Amino acid sequence: MAVAILLVGGFGTRLMPLTKNTPKPMLTVAGIPVTEHQIAMAKSAGITEIVLATSYLSEVFIPYFGDGSQWGIKIMYAVEKEPLGTGGAIRNAAQILDTDQSVVVLNGDVLSSHNLAEQIRQHESHDADVTLHLTQVQDARAFGCVPTDSQGRVTAFLEKMENPVTNQINAGCYVFNPRVISTIPLDTVVSVERETFPQLVANGAKVFGFIETAYWLDIGTPRALLKASIDIVKRTDEFLAMPGTTIDPTAVITGGSSIGVNSSVGAGAVIDGSIIEAGCVIGSNAHITDSFVSAGAEVVNGAKIASSFVTNGEILPIP
Ligand code: GDD
Ligand code: MG
Repeated sequence: MAVAILLVGGFGTRLMPLTKNTPKPMLTVAGIPVTEHQIAMAKSAGITEIVLATSYLSEVFIPYFGDGSQWGIKIMYAVEKEPLGTGGAIRNAAQILDTDQSVVVLNGDVLSSHNLAEQIRQHESHDADVTLHLTQVQDARAFGCVPTDSQGRVTAFLEKMENPVTNQINAGCYVFNPRVISTIPLDTVVSVERETFPQLVANGAKVFGFIETAYWLDIGTPRALLKASIDIVKRTDEFLAMPGTTIDPTAVITGGSSIGVNSSVGAGAVIDGSIIEAGCVIGSNAHITDSFVSAGAEVVNGAKIASSFVTNGEILPIP
């Protein structure tokens, strides 16, 4: 059995203004927050306890997830007054777990359908210090570059380099031996990517890669956020309407769009390739393509919106 820590305290700078009032992991993808997708994924891998490691806009998570009983999992919260970095956040959150089980850590802005249960199993059978999920991308510059040897042992951890040595990258899901977490200093800003992992590798610790290239996406940019939602919706349907939506029968919704809880869509509206969050009002004959309409926003009748972020009172082109 393993427990999990979700790193959900980052600023989400590249998604402003959507992340002004909503932390990035709480943005809607295919009708529900990114964090909720991750909780379901962790639960299906057998995890029973999760700590949300929060900092920026921490107050948003508790009213939504509560104690986790609605998801059949125990959810707890660790709040950093000032962001402690990924390593400091893990150390801080692990305190309330008080466990000697393997600790799974998930970056809060990643959607992955890799086999987490198998990653945990391999970690334990190697008696590893840390086991990192690794995947492949075309351009590794924005990620942690992680070469491995023929046994799957990590030989270096190189966070965001200009000339990547490999396109095998850190996919943001780790299994830690809890002893390793207790070596991270308390109440100190620490980056696992820039400090802990490189140090472990340099000291000859058992750091393994779990190499799996199943569906994987970091939703940290506007394009990626839309793509994630569209991909998930299209697995089952042309569009997704959450409970409580009112959709006029003459509206046309396509391209993997999703309509959030209690939103309404007026007559003749056209929505393509877009995310409409909860409680939005889309006016009649409005045309919305490749856009993100944030919770509670109103789109007036006849509006033409393309490649934009819509918040209440603001329409901004997606960069
Ligand atoms: N609690 C807390 N406190 N969480 C934090 C903090 C903090 O101080 N800083 C960052 N996080 C969370 C973010 O919310 C996010 O979920 C996760 O940690 C990773 O931070 P990002 O800011 O999204 O990092 P990145 O996307 O540039 O790079 C990371 O992810 C890549 C994969 O998507 C690194 O882990 C890379 O090595 C990796 O390849
Ligand atoms: Mg990220």
